[in-house]
Amino acid sequence: MDNKNFEIIKELVFEAGKILLDFYNKKLEINFKGPRDLVTIADLTVEDFLKKNLQREFPLIQFIGEEGGLSTKKERCFIVDPLDGTTNFAHHYPAFCISLAYMEKEEILFGIIYDPLKEEMFFARKGEGAFLNSTKISVSEQRELKKSLLATGFPYSDIIMPRILNYFNHILPYCQGIRRGGSAALDLAYTACGRFDGFFELGLKPWDVAAGILILEEAGGKTTTPNGKIATPFSGEYVATNGKIHDQILDIISNAESQINFFKDYFTRIINVKN
Ligand code: IPD
Ligand code: CA
Ligand code: CA
Repeated sequence: MDNKNFEIIKELVFEAGKILLDFYNKKLEINFKGPRDLVTIADLTVEDFLKKNLQREFPLIQFIGEEGGLSTKKERCFIVDPLDGTTNFAHHYPAFCISLAYMEKEEILFGIIYDPLKEEMFFARKGEGAFLNSTKISVSEQRELKKSLLATGFPYSDIIMPRILNYFNHILPYCQGIRRGGSAALDLAYTACGRFDGFFELGLKPWDVAAGILILEEAGGKTTTPNGKIATPFSGEYVATNGKIHDQILDIISNAESQINFFKDYFTRIINVKN
């Protein structure tokens, strides 16, 4: 994918951002994919816009979008979340973005994360560094977990909830604070530019993270699974940091895993009452 094509794709994402903003200013009907998992006409329209335009420009590259779901992966594909942060968007909470990555044979070659409200476009191409608009970005220099600001997210699935609550409870006392922004893609982009020092979440999908993993890597950061294995967009579970506080978080998580039963019991009781 040459520079000219990359610019075409950035321009398409920019145009898609305008569509999101049009919808953001209107009252939207909200539909439910699951009890907490929302979808709006904005998600569907932006995915449709990107799919049509990318397929017209690049007919040989497969399109994988959140709303169309995963199909058999081809050698070359775009992975797109047309609206990451749908719950925020539906509640007019100003934190959402478009996330688009391009992969060849399992390798992420570029990633774009665009927040149209703040007019911030984070992007990276493999081996060429990471940028926020026209400025090169890099991860924070923070080495001490107790001075670190982290981000996390809570998955829609009740089954995964006890594990993330367990991580949250164990990590919170050791860091400066944990934010739940509501967009995993922005959490990764913010870690890449040093606003966050690290991020952890479970139950994520390839379209949430593919662009962010590359942008963070190109900004000097590190992404693994919670047990320290190499992370791919298909791993689903992540610890992503500036690299300097990574092992401290992995150590806490490893200790937390041995105490999961408390949260499993707690959550089973809550679910029984809820249902
Ligand atoms: C969600 C957001 C959220 C994360 C959820 C994701 P969506 O994506 O990234 O921060 O906690 O796990 O599913 O549904 O807004 O595209
Ligand atoms: Ca998402
Ligand atoms: Ca989405």
